[in-house]
Amino acid sequence: MRKVISIKTDEELNLMRESGHLLAKVHDELHAAVRPGISTLELDEIGEKTIRALGGIPNCKNYEGFPASVCISVNDEVVHGIPSADKILKEGDIVTFDTGLIYKGYHSDAARTWGVGKISDEAQQLIDVTRESFFEGIKMAKAGNRLYDISKAIDNYIKPYGYGIVRELTGHGIGTSLHEEPMVPNFKQWRRGVKLQKGMTICVEPMIAMGQRYVGWLDDDWTVVTVDGSLAAHYENTIAITDGEPEILTII
Ligand code: MF3
Ligand code: CO
Repeated sequence: MRKVISIKTDEELNLMRESGHLLAKVHDELHAAVRPGISTLELDEIGEKTIRALGGIPNCKNYEGFPASVCISVNDEVVHGIPSADKILKEGDIVTFDTGLIYKGYHSDAARTWGVGKISDEAQQLIDVTRESFFEGIKMAKAGNRLYDISKAIDNYIKPYGYGIVRELTGHGIGTSLHEEPMVPNFKQWRRGVKLQKGMTICVEPMIAMGQRYVGWLDDDWTVVTVDGSLAAHYENTIAITDGEPEILTII
């Protein structure tokens, strides 16, 4: 991970935006494919095909050995689930797609959680609140504010629901590498963090458990699950700090 926070020029931001907009289309395709009976391997194939058809390169594939293009995490899996032909979605599940691509040298990264068929009201609320916490967080993502203002806003938004905020994984800077400085935690810090500047591009990605915040790794060394077995949701976009409101690069 590079130790300086890269500041993108307007030309670079244009490329980040193109990369992000392509990724938004990939997520649309993935969402449209969600149904009971489909395997997570089939979904990964749809994701990879779409990324390549759009002229992108999947940035998850082979990342530190990750074997697929889309991290697909079901129910109590928080992130980094490995797609498999044996893993078949069923009605009532929740499924998270976390994926990204490289376009003209620039990375984009985004995650979404969806219900499979009809899901419980509790599961839908977890998904909705996780997404809302992202939007609360990025209200603070303005030049002159501090990085951990974002973290605090997410934490404050989640707190009344009693959900667990995962701490072991965080958001991150992004640009010509998938993971750059700075780390972007989703819980309150006891310092302010760096000053946000126009041209910074970061991924804000709350990972929220319905129960406790504790997570563990399965023996595949990738899949992160909640220790208490509770459902988890994830919502992520790549955003750019501007002179005014943040620009969400991975939503069209
Ligand atoms: N988008 C994921 C992240 O930022 C990708 C991780 S790399 C992978 O955590 F190898 F897990 F795909
Ligand atoms: Co990310």
